[in-house]
Amino acid sequence: AQDSVTVTVDAAKPGAKIDRRIFGQFAEHLGSGIYEGIWVGKDSAIPNTRGIRNDVVAALKAIKVPVVRWPGGCFADEYHWRRGIGPERKAMMNANWGGVIEPNTFGTDEFMDFANQVGAEAYLSVNVGSGTVGEAAEWLEYMTANTKDAMGAERAANGHPEPYKVPFVGLGNESWDCGGGMTADFYTSQMKMHSRFVRNYNPAAPMQRIAVGPNGGNTEYTEAVMKAYAGRSWAWSIEGLSLHQYTTGGGFPVSQPATGFTEKQYAVILKDTLGMEDLVKTHSAIMDKYDPEKKVSLVVDEWGAWYVATAGTDPGFLMQQNTQRDAVLAALNINIFARHSDRVRMANIAQMINVLQAMILTDKDKMLLTPTYHVFKMYVPFQDATYIPVTFDAGTYTYEGITLPRVDAVAAKGADGKLYVSLTNLDPNKPVDIDTAFLGVKAKSVSGETLAAPKFDSYNDFAAPNTVAPKPVSVKLKDGKAVVRLAPASVTVLTITM
Ligand code: AHR
Repeated sequence: AQDSVTVTVDAAKPGAKIDRRIFGQFAEHLGSGIYEGIWVGKDSAIPNTRGIRNDVVAALKAIKVPVVRWPGGCFADEYHWRRGIGPERKAMMNANWGGVIEPNTFGTDEFMDFANQVGAEAYLSVNVGSGTVGEAAEWLEYMTANTKDAMGAERAANGHPEPYKVPFVGLGNESWDCGGGMTADFYTSQMKMHSRFVRNYNPAAPMQRIAVGPNGGNTEYTEAVMKAYAGRSWAWSIEGLSLHQYTTGGGFPVSQPATGFTEKQYAVILKDTLGMEDLVKTHSAIMDKYDPEKKVSLVVDEWGAWYVATAGTDPGFLMQQNTQRDAVLAALNINIFARHSDRVRMANIAQMINVLQAMILTDKDKMLLTPTYHVFKMYVPFQDATYIPVTFDAGTYTYEGITLPRVDAVAAKGADGKLYVSLTNLDPNKPVDIDTAFLGVKAKSVSGETLAAPKFDSYNDFAAPNTVAPKPVSVKLKDGKAVVRLAPASVTVLTITM
């Protein structure tokens, strides 16, 4: 007989709101993430609206992408926005990513058009590394001022009289590394100046400023930035602190394959990704010291799996396949963010299309949805839902000395009044039976959807785009409990009406 795990959902003890922005995306001018992935140009045979692919927009709308971070990444600290507005665009070298020519055809107005088409908020990263405070300030003036202001008038002349809404601005990117190799003290000085002068002039959309924060477990920036925040004056502030953490299973340069991996490599990657929990706790504890009221959000604005690039592709384009393991990885990280929703109010997976742990892969006019996309789709009801605590004995799955929890679970009460429970089986060999018990509510009906795959390294490609796709799962109410069997290495979301 199959042993079962009981997950108890305590609906009587609701927690914080799970900010929809933890399902945010990151899109950098890198490889085919923007050109081809989003932008095909108005004259393309690929169906588009003002140059932006219709198929991609529709797919992103279906997962209700709440926010997109742009234009980088390392690219942001070399980006000069003026080259990407108006009728004449000025090309530049994309020195970080393959040394290719960046035509700047997709600039500020195209990005805002894209964000509006998707229904996502804009999160702009300003150039602190190689730009000036004045350049960054003028960018936000161009975007948010009214047309009486010369910058606003220039925007209007480019076809956009209405000021844009820019609810999030990143004050640099990885300033400890590709953003300029700054010491934490040097960065905090830059941060204060940018915070002071990079203004939002659109009263319809207040703007949050997100400072560069930690690189993984390194707490230097966390301490310095939060200390500066605690001692802030009336003249400047920040509303967010960024955390970057990639799952590589062995640091950089990356060495783990995206497909064709062994069970050991499956376990190594998931073990590594679960480290996100400790990172969030470590940085949150420092933030609590300087900001006990939790006013500053922890913004995990780069996360996801980073593997060896697909053979035959430019290694600078960071193209990789996306397997069932990545679906499990995505669910585990989202669960961590949800559990810490009192502090983690935004996360942006790297990266949205054709780069790293992408939602979508494109090949000319073709597009496919990755296993990670399907997880984001299944989690849509968790957006802005109320976190509901769950208790369970996770058990263990062990392979060659690597021990992982066997199951993971989170629950939330959706805006529609229904309960949603996400259940992940990490064990790639054995199914697990779950009894979900409810405290404080009586379940009336239950249904569910599951993402399982023939193998833990199954993936979707253009020859077989639906190898990994969600399917309804058999779930029954028995003695008030929802009873379901989870396939090996799978993610399941139950919907419960009460
Ligand atoms: O996402 C790829 C790169 O990873 C980003 O440009 C950079 O910020 C990080 O190091």
